[in-house]
Order: sequence, then C-alpha cells, then structure tokens
Amino acid sequence: MTHFQPVALEHASRLINHGPTVLVTSAHGSRRNIMAAAWSMPVEFTPPRIAIVIDKSTFTRELIMNSGMFGICIPGAALIDLCYAVGSTSGRDLDKFARYRIDPVKGPVLGLPLVEAGCAAWLECRLIREPHTEEAYDTCFGEVVAAAADRRIFENGYWQVDDSNQALHTIHHLGAGKFVRASGMVQAKPL
Ligand SMILES: Cc1cc2nc3c(=O)[nH]c(=O)nc-3n(C[C@H](O)[C@H](O)[C@H](O)COP(=O)(O)O)c2cc1C
Repeated sequence: MTHFQPVALEHASRLINHGPTVLVTSAHGSRRNIMAAAWSMPVEFTPPRIAIVIDKSTFTRELIMNSGMFGICIPGAALIDLCYAVGSTSGRDLDKFARYRIDPVKGPVLGLPLVEAGCAAWLECRLIREPHTEEAYDTCFGEVVAAAADRRIFENGYWQVDDSNQALHTIHHLGAGKFVRASGMVQAKPL
C-alpha cells in the first residue's frame, strides 16, 4: 500500500526548500536513468519553478535535454547507500534501475520513472528551455507539474519530522559519501 498522496503545487517548493540531496530521474525513448544531486532549490512561486545543477557530462543531462523533462525524488535516510551508488556510476552503459533493483512508478503527468519506495516525496518537472543558460551553465530550470509525498512525513503542505518516521528523514550531503539526516525539528515561538 502506498502512503503517497498528491501535494498541491503551491506547496511543492517546500519539498526541496531545506536542501535535501535528491535523486534526479530521466527518460527518453527506450532509455531511463537516475542520479544523485545535492544542488537544487526553488526559484519561483507561481507557477512553482525550481533550479537544479546537472553537469553537462552526465547521461542524465543528455536525457533531460532530449526529453524536456525530469523527475526529482527525495530519498529518505534508508536510501543513503543507494543515493551514493547512483551518484557514483553513470547510466550511459548501464540501467541503474535494474542494477540497483529500483522499481519506479510512472509519473502522472509526464510519465517519468519516479521512486516511491524509501523516498519521502517526488516532483515531476517540465524543463524550461533556456538556450543560453543550457549552453553556458550546468543549471537547469524546471516547472513543477505534479508532486506527491509520503503522508507519514509530509501532510497538508508541511513536513512533520519526528522519531516515528526516521527512515524517511531527508539526507544532506557533506561530501565523500558522508550525509547528515534532517531531524530534531523545532518550532519557532512568538517573541
Ligand atoms: C551525494 C551526491 C550528490 C551529487 N550532486 C550532484 C549535483 O548536484 N549535480 C551534478 O551534476 N552531479 C552531482 N553528483 C554526481 C552525479 O550524481 C554523478 O555524476 C552521476 O554518476 C551521474 O550519473 P549519469 O551519468 O548516469 O547521469 C552527486 C553525486 C553524489 C554521490
């Protein structure tokens, strides 16, 4: 049984606002791929738009440019090894989904492969074509067209990070395969 439920697009930016390391999924023709990315952020409110840095040398970049779309999946702490593995190998000569036994679901709007098992949330994004930016920079812009999250950790537009959902706590890369988990949520009080 899936615990995923749709996230209103107006709340989608909150899924990556705190800087989790993400899994970028892509597909074009008969090829599909997945890689890790530490650099992503919201950039526009309405419609929700995000930026993500995808090195031009990656296979992911090739698939995104050819298909005009990409997925962002937000792995929980249980997927740290998988995240590091798909960020340390290229899908150019290998189907990482098969290699690492990842069974994706199909995105509702763009049909992208998305990971739910072990992930806290996902977003489907349509690439915003920016010829100059694409040529000059590794940064890609995308408009979020669908989003969903595991209700055990994100509901009604907000994260609820506590001891009951540790496997879904988002991960944040420090370099060289070391991560910290988002945990210890605190609530600001009026002064
Ligand atoms: C934790 C982690 C974070 C990463 N963050 C990024 C990133 O933000 N941008 C990027 O271009 N590559 C990043 N990488 C490297 C890519 O995931 C790596 O180059 C990958 O092998 C590309 O796969 P592909 O050729 O199958 O697309 C990261 C790797 C790791 C392990």
